[in-house]
Amino acid sequence: MIHQLTKLRDILRYVPRFRDRTFVIALDGIVVESENFRNILLDIALLRSLNIGVVLVHGAAHQILKLAEVMGKKPSNLDGTGITDADTLDLSLLAASRVSHELLEGLSTSDLKASVSNSIVAHPAGILQGIDQQHTGRVERIDTVLLNSLLKQDIVPVIPPIGCDGEGHSFRLNSDIVASEVARALQAVKLIYLTTQAGLVIQKAKKNDNKESFVRQISVDDAEQILKKQRDDITGPMVSKIEQAIKAIRGGVPRVHLIDGQVEEGLLAEVFSNEGIGTLIHANEYVAIRKAQKKDARAIHSLIRNSIANDELISRTRAEIEKQVDEFFVFEVDKNPTGCAALHFFPAEKKAELACLCVDPRHENQGVGTKLMQYGESLAKAAGMQELFCLSTQAINFFQQKGGFLPGSPDMLPLSRKEKYDKSGRNSLVLVKKLNS
Ligand SMILES: CC(C)(COP(=O)(O)OP(=O)(O)OC[C@H]1O[C@@H](n2cnc3c(N)ncnc32)[C@H](O)[C@@H]1OP(=O)(O)O)[C@@H](O)C(=O)NCCC(=O)NCCS
Repeated sequence: MIHQLTKLRDILRYVPRFRDRTFVIALDGIVVESENFRNILLDIALLRSLNIGVVLVHGAAHQILKLAEVMGKKPSNLDGTGITDADTLDLSLLAASRVSHELLEGLSTSDLKASVSNSIVAHPAGILQGIDQQHTGRVERIDTVLLNSLLKQDIVPVIPPIGCDGEGHSFRLNSDIVASEVARALQAVKLIYLTTQAGLVIQKAKKNDNKESFVRQISVDDAEQILKKQRDDITGPMVSKIEQAIKAIRGGVPRVHLIDGQVEEGLLAEVFSNEGIGTLIHANEYVAIRKAQKKDARAIHSLIRNSIANDELISRTRAEIEKQVDEFFVFEVDKNPTGCAALHFFPAEKKAELACLCVDPRHENQGVGTKLMQYGESLAKAAGMQELFCLSTQAINFFQQKGGFLPGSPDMLPLSRKEKYDKSGRNSLVLVKKLNS
């Protein structure tokens, strides 16, 4: 029960930030057929109940393929990026209508009003590299007036991967692109791709060792670098989504999530928790280190709790943290502290202690600890200190290798600190670093 209440509190923390804002949720066609689809609809109902506007964009590749098999036809392209011949356009219209309708049906079961709209104005993709793309289109314009008026009336717009040109022609579009364009046009606070893969996975081919690394969060600049340098190492159908995520973020959407739509509660976990289950691509200013404030005491206390239990850090109560909060600084992700450290000054000796450095285990090994250490060092330098020291029992190598600290001795501690050190009986190693001004 207590666990559930904590979860609820975690969710409610995010609500003011998202209230009256818009999320664009893009579902691959296959996700609509998954067992988890019903749960996704419930999650959408929850978002709506919190006054978060939701626009649903869906794909139809999976359904086009199935329909083609039943009708004995061979589609010229499945995802709206290649040539769409007349037969494939027909298949696309049928399949997309079916998916749209399933979304309408599902939303009705949660008492949500929804509407399929002709809000995507499209033109023919034309002749690309000498080849006529026939009925494949490109997004020309998003009718934001129409979409906003639906959202204002608490109606969920449902957008199929089909566009119209105003002259009675329909075009097959790629749903990743549609979702990105809609998110940009509406200046959504989130674009969420629900797909069949956990997120961005990069194949790290070493000599005889094929390792995969899962990217939990990444800035838009780093995502661009990955596309440039490791495009071929990205596993699964993620390249197009990452390209569109980058476009959306460059167009003003702060966060794009790539998550597995088949995982129960995946959507809520991603939106309402710091760690999420998938990959978050964010605008560059998304992570930050800042001085702690009184309101951070609870988060700092829960950050360090495990490390205290493991004897990595000395014990501090929440009240003690509150009292010393001016000495703490925090590393924020999505405006939540995921790492912290404190700096105690000994002005008479021109020394400062870097203490209580701790990173949420879910965010370890992403450079957060090093950044906090460097930030502490720069604060100490700026305050005119000549030496930075820290005491460690279990992270000695970390401070030496990542921070350039050298082993020292307790005699090098400021007098008042040495007394405390002797009393504690922890026998921590003293590590020191000279600060060149
Ligand atoms: C130590 C700690 C702050 C590192 O944070 P982090 O964000 O994971 O660190 P970074 O991502 O910047 O650096 C990761 C590197 O440090 C190494 N590292 C992490 N913890 C380490 C430890 N206890 N001992 C030695 N090396 C360690 C990792 O192996 C990794 O090495 P690599 O880059 O060569 O692969 C974090 O593990 C932590 O909070 N530990 C528990 C509390 C603690 O011991 N605090 C320090 C005492 S004051």
